[in-house]
Amino acid sequence: MHNVFLIGPMGAGKSTIGRLLARELGVPFKDSDREIEARTGADIPWIFDVEGEEGFRLREEAMIDELVHEQGIVLATGGGVVMRESNRNALKGNGLVVYLRTSVEQQLQRTAKDRQRPLLQTPDPERVLRELMARRDPLYREIADLVIDTDQRGPKGVVSSIVTRL
Ligand code: S3P
Repeated sequence: MHNVFLIGPMGAGKSTIGRLLARELGVPFKDSDREIEARTGADIPWIFDVEGEEGFRLREEAMIDELVHEQGIVLATGGGVVMRESNRNALKGNGLVVYLRTSVEQQLQRTAKDRQRPLLQTPDPERVLRELMARRDPLYREIADLVIDTDQRGPKGVVSSIVTRL
């Protein structure tokens, strides 16, 4: 099987859907943020605190370069992965890229109590999410083989749309 790479913003459901999809296909599920944490021995907020976003992006780039060379995995990526051209090329060239699209309203609901996402620890997360979406949506679309709206259907429906495309 080809790799399946899930891209999209925070709160799109990449981890939930990725886990379900991998189980359905009987292949390993990986989440690039969790892999970065395991490798670093520290969580994402710590990495942002100590090394800044730039430090995190360097770790993310190295991890993506490694993970895309696996064979037959489902990978959930971080929402900012598309900001680097090297990541876009690596994902595009090594698997089916699925953009899980969602509205900012849904993102806000799904991330409301989250303390693990440094970019949202601000008085106005809605503004941040809108700005990130404006910048990143064209980049998600640029590399996506498939775009699926996760506001309209539950995780099982999303998984079956992906399976029919494999
Ligand atoms: C980020 C999204 C997060 C994580 C980091 C930065 C982003 O991943 O990589 O906090 O820039 O959108 P999720 O999309 O899994 O929340």
